[in-house]
Amino acid sequence: GTSVLEVAHHYDIDIEGACEASLACSTCHVILEEEYFDKLEEATEREEDLLDMAPGLAETSRLGCQVI
Ligand code: FES
Repeated sequence: GTSVLEVAHHYDIDIEGACEASLACSTCHVILEEEYFDKLEEATEREEDLLDMAPGLAETSRLGCQVI
């Protein structure tokens, strides 16, 4: 599938993806619409751990490279 991070890059939206989707950074942090967030599979523990380090963490935060 195509991740939110890849879609953003396609449209020249500047989200970083420092680790290239290998779940080793939090630079691809995105805050989603609640409606969309609710439809996703839950984040893995590893994603949650990285999200905890993301600045501006919100209720509907995810790592963009993990949102397919
Ligand atoms: Fe590093 Fe998403 S690009 S976790």
